[in-house]
Amino acid sequence: MTKITYLGHSCFKIEREGAQIVTDPFLTYNPLAAAKPDQLSPNLILVSHAHGDHMGDAASISQRTGAPVLAIFETAGRAAQAGAKTVGAGYGGTVSFDFGKVKLVPAWHSSSFGDEFQYAGNPCGFVIMFPDITIYDAGDTTVFGDMKLIAEVTPIDIALLPIGGHYTMGVDDAVKAVELLKPKVVIPMHYNTLPEIRQDPQEFKDKVESRLKTKVVILKPGESYTA
Ligand code: NI
Ligand code: MN
Repeated sequence: MTKITYLGHSCFKIEREGAQIVTDPFLTYNPLAAAKPDQLSPNLILVSHAHGDHMGDAASISQRTGAPVLAIFETAGRAAQAGAKTVGAGYGGTVSFDFGKVKLVPAWHSSSFGDEFQYAGNPCGFVIMFPDITIYDAGDTTVFGDMKLIAEVTPIDIALLPIGGHYTMGVDDAVKAVELLKPKVVIPMHYNTLPEIRQDPQEFKDKVESRLKTKVVILKPGESYTA
């Protein structure tokens, strides 16, 4: 059993026997966050890029728990400077853990660190491969044609996709992403946290489910989906 709990913005807690993975832990400065950093005990932290709403509390959680931050090489370097234990990797790279494997895949966005916009490498998405289930966390991205390729190489069971617009794809482009990825389930993320990313997840659900076979699961911060 794999339990996915939405903690707000792009932060998910993915739990199964022997593993707790936390993605993009933007908690302290997210008023809608459903957990405090101290409540999490991950053994792996995934950070899609170095923007503050993704790097978030990664370094302090890593310091407290010893969980490594897996990220693109330069993003991992910034996390290490902030005190995190890290594993840096690159696009197409697959890193093995006791519970399964995680592959870093491209995302079309930007990535910088801190108030002076320091270089932090490229943004990425993650394909999280457990023996019985594969989860794709798109990170912050627009839709892009190679999403089809990502899912051809590793069929996706559950996709975590941004729908908020402004900084990432919005509803209609995210529907196109679902068409390319053909996941069984999609969980929307990266919306309603800021005024410029206000979005109605029900509109996304209606559009996807009226055109495609994918089921959309809308989670409020704190809610879980078990697969
Ligand atoms: Ni970003
Ligand atoms: Mn973001």
